[in-house]
Amino acid sequence: MTTIGIIGCGKIGGTLARLAADAGHHTILSNSRGPGSLRELAAQLGDRARAATPEEAARDGDLVVVSVPLKAYRQVPAADLRGRVVISTVNHNPGRDGAFPGIEAGETTAAGVLQAHLPESPVVQAFSNIFFKHLATLGRPAGAPGRCALPIAGDDAAAKARVAALLDTLGYDAYDAGALGESRRFAPGTPGGNAYLDPEGMFAAPGRPLSAAALAELLA
Ligand SMILES: NC(=O)c1ccc[n+]([C@@H]2O[C@H](COP(=O)([O-])OP(=O)(O)OC[C@H]3O[C@@H](n4cnc5c(N)ncnc54)[C@H](OP(=O)(O)O)[C@@H]3O)[C@@H](O)[C@H]2O)c1
Repeated sequence: MTTIGIIGCGKIGGTLARLAADAGHHTILSNSRGPGSLRELAAQLGDRARAATPEEAARDGDLVVVSVPLKAYRQVPAADLRGRVVISTVNHNPGRDGAFPGIEAGETTAAGVLQAHLPESPVVQAFSNIFFKHLATLGRPAGAPGRCALPIAGDDAAAKARVAALLDTLGYDAYDAGALGESRRFAPGTPGGNAYLDPEGMFAAPGRPLSAAALAELLA
């Protein structure tokens, strides 16, 4: 079993913590307010979960999920993450995060901004195009009918392989969308960014399961 550090334990990070704990992984939960605010969640997740600081989650995680608003990226502890594979769920939401001219100009992506802040940690973008409620419910065992593929993007092949193996344990196939910059193909507002939303009901409707072939079409 893997130890998953989680920096940012809100809607997406908290959902991933639950999926990881259910899959038998150890989890280290952290946020901006400190471990005290996460003890109840850690207790709910069982013996293999603990609340900690972002620095501890970074140092002690085999894989570390960064799931904070983009505007907080400078506070992600780069020194403690050195050498760690980082999974970024981070998107640019201008209303929440403010302007990022490089992203708006198409020169970089939210994951690219985080990667520039973490030059010694391979960043893999994942779980960033699925609504947290759908992430909680669409997972299926390997080989089950209707199992979803989720896109991942990153520049380091070994890091992507580790993230794909994690996705498999959480109930999802990984679809390799290419280098980190290719995460633009599943950023918010793109067809790939809405991949699991039922167009008829959007966020209120149950998630729409999507095969790798259907996802590939949306990303093309
Ligand atoms: N919501 C979705 O369905 C969804 C789907 C895909 C991708 N995303 C992306 O995933 C990221 C997280 O979204 P979310 O909806 O889960 O947000 P959220 O519910 O607001 O949670 C954000 C988390 O980040 C923590 N945080 C903020 N600043 C931090 C810092 N400096 N250090 C450590 N932790 C910090 C917050 O801690 P405190 O509460 O203690 O401040 C909170 O735990 C965003 O970039 C979002 O665009 C969201």
